[in-house]
Amino acid sequence: MSKSILITGGAGFIGSHVVQLFVEKYPEYQIVNLDALTYAGNLENLKSVEGAANYIFEKADIQDADALDSIFAKHNITDVIHLAAESHVDRSISDPMAFVKTNVFGTVNLLNSAKKAWAGELENHLFYHVSTDEVYGSLHDGGFFLETTPYDPQSPYSASKAASDHFVRAYANTYKMKTVVSNCSNNYGPNHFPEKLIPLCINNIKNSKPLPVYGKGENVRDWLFVKDHARAIDTVFHKGKAGETYNIGGFNEWKNIDIVKLLCKKMDEKLGREPGTSEKLITYVTDRAGHDLRYAIDATKIQKELGWEPSLQFDEGIEITIDWYLANEEWLDHVTSGSYQEYYSELYGKG
Ligand SMILES: NC(=O)c1ccc[n+]([C@@H]2O[C@H](COP(=O)([O-])OP(=O)(O)OC[C@H]3O[C@@H](n4cnc5c(N)ncnc54)[C@H](O)[C@@H]3O)[C@@H](O)[C@H]2O)c1
Repeated sequence: MSKSILITGGAGFIGSHVVQLFVEKYPEYQIVNLDALTYAGNLENLKSVEGAANYIFEKADIQDADALDSIFAKHNITDVIHLAAESHVDRSISDPMAFVKTNVFGTVNLLNSAKKAWAGELENHLFYHVSTDEVYGSLHDGGFFLETTPYDPQSPYSASKAASDHFVRAYANTYKMKTVVSNCSNNYGPNHFPEKLIPLCINNIKNSKPLPVYGKGENVRDWLFVKDHARAIDTVFHKGKAGETYNIGGFNEWKNIDIVKLLCKKMDEKLGREPGTSEKLITYVTDRAGHDLRYAIDATKIQKELGWEPSLQFDEGIEITIDWYLANEEWLDHVTSGSYQEYYSELYGKG
């Protein structure tokens, strides 16, 4: 195999699309998916590739340095695409330390294992760190986040991601590791754990349950279809310049309340309900503490320098997403009941 790529967090939402893309598009690469299978990691996301000759799964925690060292050695890892993280802002507010442990400590462990495994030939290996636009803070007066926008994280989640980004750049500067970082806007699409806005609303509309909207729903996010993010990661991995940062986004800003209303309208149509039925489920709840008002990415650099741009318009992507959730009731049931976690034992035995 020409490369042996360690993809961390490959059983999660974005990671599962990245693993699928790499396994299918690059049969000449060995893809090692390392995931701790937390509540957010679901191997059912990877059914389409689990039997592929170039795919290997390793259940491990990035907080466990010894486990990382042995996985690097066992699979002769040549490159890393690092997505494993605690990713839900609300959880970071109730348990910040879990975010420090995985996002900061875990990332530094991974950098150390890579540095050790690649000693003497660091220039031949890439450590690609996947991050978020939330590290830039909140926009209040128009404008966009650029790669040069100073970091100003506002939640424990974004603070932990910002710290991990800084460590990656520090390793590039101090130890001359070949690294690249990308910061992406909000993703939506299949395989998204239904604690996040879009899948949560789809699931609740389907079950005629209340649709909780923070504050007045005025917060603005820039939404990108997850497979377009996976394509961007492929592009940055292969064409990105070492030491650079690339912002990834869809130039697609929506207020939360408008997204929720759009989902209500489309789902009423698809479920054959009277127009306006699902909007009655909207329930305004106390705003999230320190809720960032607006995120918006300027993705010009990756478009101009690397030739990536989103392939889907939002209207198309949201249709695909709703249809996927409606067609994959079993996935949704397993995730909401917690029984998806038994899939690992069925597939790989206990352990
Ligand atoms: N979801 C978004 O909109 C978004 C946007 C931009 C960037 N990101 C970044 O992309 C990455 C993936 O996000 P996601 O939404 O797919 O997250 P996710 O929560 O769906 O998946 C995270 C995965 O990491 C695994 N994991 C968690 N802790 C681990 C640990 N200690 N060791 C090994 N594995 C562990 C989980 O089991 C899960 O499979 C994250 O780094 C996130 O910060 C996400």
